[in-house]
Amino acid sequence: MIERVKQLMAEIESLKAGSAAEAEDLRLKYLSKKGLIPSMFEEFKEVEPALKREVGRMLNDLKNLAQEKIGELRSGFEAKTAGPVADSDLTRPAELFRPGTRHPLSVTRNRITEIFSHIGFTVAEGPEIEDDWHNFGALNFADDHPARDMQDTFFISTRPDILLRTHTSSVQIRTMEKTQPPIRMIFPGRVFRNEAISARAHCIFHQVEGLYIDRDVSFADLKQTLMYFAKEMFGESTRIRLRPSYFPFTEPSGEMDVSCNICGGSGCNICKYTGWVEILGCGMVDPAVLENCGIDSSVYTGFAFGMGIERITMLKYQIRDLRLFFENDVRFLRQFTGAI
Ligand code: PHE
Repeated sequence: MIERVKQLMAEIESLKAGSAAEAEDLRLKYLSKKGLIPSMFEEFKEVEPALKREVGRMLNDLKNLAQEKIGELRSGFEAKTAGPVADSDLTRPAELFRPGTRHPLSVTRNRITEIFSHIGFTVAEGPEIEDDWHNFGALNFADDHPARDMQDTFFISTRPDILLRTHTSSVQIRTMEKTQPPIRMIFPGRVFRNEAISARAHCIFHQVEGLYIDRDVSFADLKQTLMYFAKEMFGESTRIRLRPSYFPFTEPSGEMDVSCNICGGSGCNICKYTGWVEILGCGMVDPAVLENCGIDSSVYTGFAFGMGIERITMLKYQIRDLRLFFENDVRFLRQFTGAI
Protein backbone atom coordinates (compact mmCIF):
# COMPACT_ATOMS: atom_id res chain seq x y z
CA MET A 1 0.00 0.00 0.00
CA ILE A 2 2.83 2.37 0.88
CA GLU A 3 4.36 1.76 -2.52
CA ARG A 4 1.09 2.51 -4.28
CA VAL A 5 0.63 5.74 -2.38
CA LYS A 6 4.16 6.82 -3.37
CA GLN A 7 3.49 5.94 -6.99
CA LEU A 8 0.23 7.91 -7.02
CA MET A 9 1.97 10.91 -5.48
CA ALA A 10 4.51 10.98 -8.28
CA GLU A 11 1.75 10.51 -10.84
CA ILE A 12 -0.28 13.38 -9.42
CA GLU A 13 2.73 15.70 -9.24
CA SER A 14 3.17 15.42 -12.98
CA LEU A 15 -0.53 15.75 -13.97
CA LYS A 16 -1.32 18.04 -16.86
CA ALA A 17 -4.59 19.11 -18.44
CA GLY A 18 -5.16 20.72 -21.83
CA SER A 19 -8.66 21.98 -21.17
CA ALA A 20 -11.18 22.56 -18.41
CA ALA A 21 -12.88 19.29 -19.39
CA GLU A 22 -9.64 17.35 -19.02
CA ALA A 23 -9.05 18.87 -15.56
CA GLU A 24 -12.57 17.84 -14.61
CA ASP A 25 -11.87 14.28 -15.79
CA LEU A 26 -8.82 14.18 -13.53
CA ARG A 27 -10.90 15.32 -10.59
CA LEU A 28 -13.37 12.53 -11.30
CA LYS A 29 -10.61 9.95 -11.67
CA TYR A 30 -8.81 10.76 -8.42
CA LEU A 31 -11.12 12.60 -6.08
CA SER A 32 -14.78 11.83 -6.80
CA LYS A 33 -16.64 9.44 -4.51
CA LYS A 34 -15.67 6.43 -6.59
CA GLY A 35 -12.25 7.83 -7.50
CA LEU A 36 -8.85 6.30 -6.72
CA ILE A 37 -8.08 8.21 -3.55
CA PRO A 38 -11.38 7.60 -1.71
CA SER A 39 -11.07 3.91 -2.62
CA MET A 40 -7.66 3.84 -0.94
CA PHE A 41 -9.22 5.28 2.18
CA GLU A 42 -11.57 2.28 2.03
CA GLU A 43 -8.62 -0.10 1.84
CA PHE A 44 -6.98 1.74 4.73
CA LYS A 45 -9.45 0.03 7.05
CA GLU A 46 -7.65 -3.27 6.35
CA VAL A 47 -4.14 -1.94 7.05
CA GLU A 48 -2.52 -3.69 10.02
CA PRO A 49 -2.58 -1.58 13.19
CA ALA A 50 1.20 -1.11 13.42
CA LEU A 51 1.29 0.69 10.05
CA LYS A 52 -1.94 2.64 10.46
CA ARG A 53 -0.25 5.82 11.67
CA GLU A 54 2.22 6.08 8.86
CA VAL A 55 -0.14 5.03 6.09
CA GLY A 56 -2.84 7.32 7.42
CA ARG A 57 -0.51 10.30 7.32
CA MET A 58 0.65 9.44 3.80
CA LEU A 59 -2.92 9.03 2.57
CA ASN A 60 -3.85 12.45 3.93
CA ASP A 61 -0.83 13.98 2.24
CA LEU A 62 -1.83 12.29 -0.98
CA LYS A 63 -5.34 13.63 -0.75
CA ASN A 64 -4.16 17.16 -0.02
CA LEU A 65 -1.69 17.03 -2.87
CA ALA A 66 -4.34 15.84 -5.31
CA GLN A 67 -6.82 18.49 -4.22
CA GLU A 68 -4.24 21.22 -4.55
CA LYS A 69 -2.88 20.08 -7.88
CA ILE A 70 -6.20 19.39 -9.59
CA GLY A 71 -7.67 22.57 -8.06
CA GLU A 72 -4.83 24.54 -9.60
CA LEU A 73 -5.35 22.96 -13.00
CA ARG A 74 -9.07 23.76 -12.91
CA SER A 75 -8.73 27.34 -11.71
CA GLY A 76 -6.13 27.96 -14.42
CA PHE A 77 -8.83 27.40 -17.01
CA GLU A 78 -11.44 29.46 -15.15
CA ALA A 79 -9.07 32.43 -15.02
CA LYS A 80 -8.39 32.04 -18.71
CA THR A 81 -12.01 32.22 -19.70
CA ALA A 82 -13.21 34.80 -17.15
CA GLY A 83 -10.39 37.18 -16.41
CA PRO A 84 -7.85 39.16 -18.38
CA VAL A 85 -5.44 36.91 -20.21
CA ALA A 86 -1.73 37.33 -19.74
CA ASP A 87 -1.13 37.90 -23.42
CA SER A 88 -3.94 40.49 -23.94
CA ASP A 89 -2.89 43.69 -25.70
CA LEU A 90 -2.91 46.43 -23.12
CA THR A 91 -2.04 49.09 -25.70
CA ARG A 92 -5.19 48.49 -27.75
CA PRO A 93 -7.38 51.65 -27.95
CA ALA A 94 -10.32 51.55 -25.52
CA GLU A 95 -13.89 50.90 -26.65
CA LEU A 96 -15.57 54.18 -27.54
CA PHE A 97 -17.66 55.19 -24.51
CA ARG A 98 -20.64 57.31 -25.33
CA PRO A 99 -22.14 58.98 -22.28
CA GLY A 100 -25.91 59.51 -22.44
CA THR A 101 -27.60 62.87 -22.10
CA ARG A 102 -30.10 64.15 -19.61
CA HIS A 103 -33.70 64.12 -20.73
CA PRO A 104 -34.79 67.67 -21.62
CA LEU A 105 -37.50 67.51 -18.95
CA SER A 106 -34.83 66.68 -16.34
CA VAL A 107 -32.68 69.54 -17.60
CA THR A 108 -35.59 71.95 -17.12
CA ARG A 109 -36.61 70.50 -13.75
CA ASN A 110 -33.04 70.84 -12.49
CA ARG A 111 -32.87 74.43 -13.74
CA ILE A 112 -36.19 75.33 -12.05
CA THR A 113 -35.00 73.72 -8.81
CA GLU A 114 -31.75 75.64 -9.00
CA ILE A 115 -33.46 78.99 -9.65
CA PHE A 116 -35.73 78.58 -6.65
CA SER A 117 -32.93 77.28 -4.44
CA HIS A 118 -31.22 80.67 -4.81
CA ILE A 119 -34.13 82.32 -2.98
CA GLY A 120 -34.38 79.69 -0.25
CA PHE A 121 -36.82 77.12 -1.63
CA THR A 122 -36.09 73.49 -0.79
CA VAL A 123 -37.50 70.43 -2.59
CA ALA A 124 -40.05 67.86 -1.42
CA GLU A 125 -41.55 64.88 -3.20
CA GLY A 126 -44.58 62.73 -2.54
CA PRO A 127 -46.49 59.67 -3.82
CA GLU A 128 -47.90 59.46 -7.34
CA ILE A 129 -50.75 57.25 -6.12
CA GLU A 130 -52.84 59.46 -3.86
CA ASP A 131 -56.04 59.47 -1.86
CA ASP A 132 -58.95 61.78 -2.56
CA TRP A 133 -58.25 63.93 0.52
CA HIS A 134 -54.71 64.93 -0.44
CA ASN A 135 -55.45 65.43 -4.13
CA PHE A 136 -58.87 67.13 -3.81
CA GLY A 137 -60.58 67.24 -0.40
CA ALA A 138 -57.99 69.23 1.56
CA LEU A 139 -57.61 71.56 -1.42
CA ASN A 140 -61.20 72.73 -1.16
CA PHE A 141 -62.56 70.89 -4.17
CA ALA A 142 -66.32 70.50 -3.78
CA ASP A 143 -67.56 66.89 -3.87
CA ASP A 144 -69.08 67.45 -7.29
CA HIS A 145 -66.18 69.43 -8.78
CA PRO A 146 -65.75 68.45 -12.44
CA ALA A 147 -62.03 67.68 -11.98
CA ARG A 148 -63.03 64.63 -9.92
CA ASP A 149 -64.96 63.40 -12.91
CA MET A 150 -63.68 60.35 -14.76
CA GLN A 151 -63.01 62.71 -17.67
CA ASP A 152 -59.97 64.14 -15.92
CA THR A 153 -58.82 61.83 -13.19
CA PHE A 154 -57.64 58.21 -13.23
CA PHE A 155 -59.45 56.51 -10.35
CA ILE A 156 -58.93 52.92 -9.24
CA SER A 157 -62.33 51.39 -10.02
CA THR A 158 -62.36 49.02 -7.03
CA ARG A 159 -61.08 51.69 -4.61
CA PRO A 160 -62.66 55.02 -5.63
CA ASP A 161 -60.78 56.79 -2.85
CA ILE A 162 -57.45 56.00 -4.55
CA LEU A 163 -56.32 57.86 -7.67
CA LEU A 164 -53.30 58.93 -9.69
CA ARG A 165 -52.49 62.45 -8.56
CA THR A 166 -53.61 65.13 -11.01
CA HIS A 167 -51.19 67.74 -9.64
CA THR A 168 -48.39 67.93 -7.08
CA SER A 169 -50.54 70.19 -4.85
CA SER A 170 -51.08 66.91 -2.96
CA VAL A 171 -47.47 67.18 -1.78
CA GLN A 172 -48.16 70.73 -0.56
CA ILE A 173 -50.93 69.30 1.61
CA ARG A 174 -48.70 66.51 2.93
CA THR A 175 -46.00 69.08 3.75
CA MET A 176 -48.39 71.45 5.54
CA GLU A 177 -49.85 68.58 7.55
CA LYS A 178 -46.38 67.73 8.87
CA THR A 179 -44.67 71.13 9.09
CA GLN A 180 -45.53 74.42 10.72
CA PRO A 181 -44.52 77.64 8.85
CA PRO A 182 -42.29 79.10 7.68
CA ILE A 183 -42.53 76.76 4.66
CA ARG A 184 -40.71 77.64 1.47
CA MET A 185 -40.65 74.66 -0.86
CA ILE A 186 -41.09 73.43 -4.40
CA PHE A 187 -42.64 70.13 -5.43
CA PRO A 188 -41.52 68.58 -8.70
CA GLY A 189 -43.13 65.38 -9.93
CA ARG A 190 -45.11 63.35 -12.43
CA VAL A 191 -48.86 63.85 -12.66
CA PHE A 192 -51.67 62.11 -14.53
CA ARG A 193 -54.84 63.28 -16.25
CA ASN A 194 -57.28 61.46 -18.43
CA GLU A 195 -56.64 63.54 -21.53
CA ALA A 196 -56.46 62.65 -25.20
CA ILE A 197 -52.82 62.60 -26.34
CA SER A 198 -51.99 65.38 -28.80
CA ALA A 199 -49.18 67.80 -29.69
CA ARG A 200 -50.18 69.95 -26.70
CA ALA A 201 -51.49 67.48 -24.10
CA HIS A 202 -50.64 64.06 -22.66
CA CYS A 203 -52.12 61.82 -19.99
CA ILE A 204 -48.76 61.91 -18.18
CA PHE A 205 -46.87 65.14 -17.64
CA HIS A 206 -44.64 66.83 -15.08
CA GLN A 207 -45.15 69.75 -12.77
CA VAL A 208 -43.25 71.91 -10.36
CA GLU A 209 -45.48 73.51 -7.78
CA GLY A 210 -44.31 75.97 -5.13
CA LEU A 211 -45.48 77.07 -1.70
CA TYR A 212 -44.45 79.86 0.60
CA ILE A 213 -46.22 80.23 3.98
CA ASP A 214 -45.15 82.63 6.71
CA ARG A 215 -46.40 85.68 8.59
CA ASP A 216 -47.29 88.63 6.31
CA VAL A 217 -46.73 86.91 2.96
CA SER A 218 -48.58 89.00 0.37
CA PHE A 219 -49.49 88.98 -3.31
CA ALA A 220 -46.57 91.35 -3.89
CA ASP A 221 -44.21 88.58 -2.72
CA LEU A 222 -45.86 86.18 -5.14
CA LYS A 223 -45.48 88.57 -8.05
CA GLN A 224 -41.86 89.38 -7.20
CA THR A 225 -40.97 85.69 -6.87
CA LEU A 226 -42.56 84.80 -10.20
CA MET A 227 -40.94 87.74 -11.96
CA TYR A 228 -37.54 86.67 -10.63
CA PHE A 229 -38.21 83.13 -11.85
CA ALA A 230 -39.33 84.21 -15.34
CA LYS A 231 -36.27 86.39 -15.88
CA GLU A 232 -33.89 83.68 -14.65
CA MET A 233 -35.55 81.05 -16.81
CA PHE A 234 -36.18 82.95 -20.05
CA GLY A 235 -33.80 85.91 -19.89
CA GLU A 236 -33.51 89.35 -18.33
CA SER A 237 -35.74 91.06 -20.90
CA THR A 238 -38.72 88.77 -20.16
CA ARG A 239 -41.90 90.52 -19.03
CA ILE A 240 -44.77 88.90 -17.10
CA ARG A 241 -48.48 89.52 -16.90
CA LEU A 242 -50.98 88.18 -14.39
CA ARG A 243 -54.59 87.50 -15.34
CA PRO A 244 -57.34 86.74 -12.81
CA SER A 245 -58.32 83.07 -12.70
CA TYR A 246 -59.95 80.50 -10.45
CA PHE A 247 -58.61 77.58 -8.42
CA PRO A 248 -60.53 76.08 -5.48
CA PHE A 249 -57.45 76.26 -3.24
CA THR A 250 -56.27 79.83 -3.87
CA GLU A 251 -58.00 83.18 -3.41
CA PRO A 252 -57.35 85.41 -5.25
CA SER A 253 -56.04 83.24 -8.10
CA GLY A 254 -54.18 84.14 -11.26
CA GLU A 255 -52.55 82.79 -14.36
CA MET A 256 -49.20 84.09 -15.43
CA ASP A 257 -48.07 84.74 -18.98
CA VAL A 258 -44.53 85.52 -20.05
CA SER A 259 -43.65 87.61 -23.07
CA CYS A 260 -43.02 85.19 -25.94
CA ASN A 261 -39.31 84.50 -26.00
CA ILE A 262 -39.45 83.33 -29.59
CA CYS A 263 -40.73 86.53 -31.24
CA GLY A 264 -39.88 88.82 -28.32
CA GLY A 265 -43.52 89.80 -27.98
CA SER A 266 -44.20 90.97 -31.53
CA GLY A 267 -46.35 87.92 -32.39
CA CYS A 268 -45.66 84.46 -33.89
CA ASN A 269 -47.38 81.08 -34.24
CA ILE A 270 -46.05 79.85 -30.87
CA CYS A 271 -47.78 82.66 -28.97
CA LYS A 272 -50.67 82.61 -31.44
CA TYR A 273 -49.80 86.19 -32.42
CA THR A 274 -50.60 87.55 -28.96
CA GLY A 275 -47.00 88.10 -27.82
CA TRP A 276 -47.75 86.22 -24.57
CA VAL A 277 -47.51 82.57 -23.48
CA GLU A 278 -49.28 81.18 -20.42
CA ILE A 279 -46.92 79.24 -18.17
CA LEU A 280 -48.46 78.82 -14.73
CA GLY A 281 -51.34 79.10 -12.28
CA CYS A 282 -50.93 80.79 -8.91
CA GLY A 283 -52.64 82.54 -6.03
CA MET A 284 -52.82 83.19 -2.30
CA VAL A 285 -53.49 79.96 -0.41
CA ASP A 286 -57.15 79.84 0.64
CA PRO A 287 -57.41 80.12 4.47
CA ALA A 288 -59.65 77.02 4.48
CA VAL A 289 -56.76 74.99 2.99
CA LEU A 290 -54.41 76.18 5.74
CA GLU A 291 -56.97 75.21 8.38
CA ASN A 292 -57.47 71.79 6.75
CA CYS A 293 -53.77 71.16 7.38
CA GLY A 294 -53.66 72.46 10.95
CA ILE A 295 -52.09 75.86 10.16
CA ASP A 296 -53.60 78.91 11.91
CA SER A 297 -54.91 81.14 9.10
CA SER A 298 -55.25 84.12 11.44
CA VAL A 299 -51.47 84.10 11.91
CA TYR A 300 -50.12 82.84 8.57
CA THR A 301 -50.70 83.63 4.93
CA GLY A 302 -49.01 82.23 1.87
CA PHE A 303 -48.88 81.85 -1.86
CA ALA A 304 -48.73 78.86 -4.18
CA PHE A 305 -48.05 78.36 -7.85
CA GLY A 306 -47.83 75.45 -10.27
CA MET A 307 -46.33 75.04 -13.71
CA GLY A 308 -45.98 72.30 -16.30
CA ILE A 309 -42.38 71.31 -17.02
CA GLU A 310 -43.28 70.25 -20.58
CA ARG A 311 -44.71 73.66 -21.40
CA ILE A 312 -41.64 75.50 -20.06
CA THR A 313 -39.29 73.15 -21.94
CA MET A 314 -41.23 73.56 -25.20
CA LEU A 315 -41.01 77.29 -24.88
CA LYS A 316 -37.36 77.33 -23.93
CA TYR A 317 -36.18 74.97 -26.68
CA GLN A 318 -38.87 75.73 -29.27
CA ILE A 319 -40.27 72.19 -29.31
CA ARG A 320 -43.55 72.02 -31.14
CA ASP A 321 -44.87 68.60 -30.19
CA LEU A 322 -45.15 67.40 -26.59
CA ARG A 323 -45.26 63.74 -27.62
CA LEU A 324 -41.55 63.89 -28.47
CA PHE A 325 -40.76 63.88 -24.74
CA PHE A 326 -42.22 60.40 -24.33
CA GLU A 327 -41.09 58.62 -27.48
CA ASN A 328 -37.49 57.93 -26.40
CA ASP A 329 -36.16 58.71 -29.85
CA VAL A 330 -32.42 59.17 -29.32
CA ARG A 331 -32.17 61.50 -32.33
CA PHE A 332 -34.37 63.91 -30.37
CA LEU A 333 -32.82 63.27 -26.95
CA ARG A 334 -29.21 63.67 -28.16
CA GLN A 335 -29.91 67.28 -29.09
CA PHE A 336 -29.88 68.15 -25.39
CA THR A 337 -26.26 67.24 -24.75
CA GLY A 338 -24.84 69.24 -21.88
CA ALA A 339 -21.62 69.42 -19.94
CA ILE A 340 -22.99 66.89 -17.44
N1 PHE B 1 -52.53 72.71 -9.04
C1 PHE B 1 -52.80 73.59 -10.15
C2 PHE B 1 -52.87 72.74 -11.42
O1 PHE B 1 -52.45 71.65 -11.43
C3 PHE B 1 -51.75 74.65 -10.33
C4 PHE B 1 -51.73 75.64 -9.20
C5 PHE B 1 -50.90 75.43 -8.13
C6 PHE B 1 -52.54 76.75 -9.24
C7 PHE B 1 -50.88 76.34 -7.09
C8 PHE B 1 -52.52 77.65 -8.20
C9 PHE B 1 -51.69 77.45 -7.13
O2 PHE B 1 -53.37 73.19 -12.42
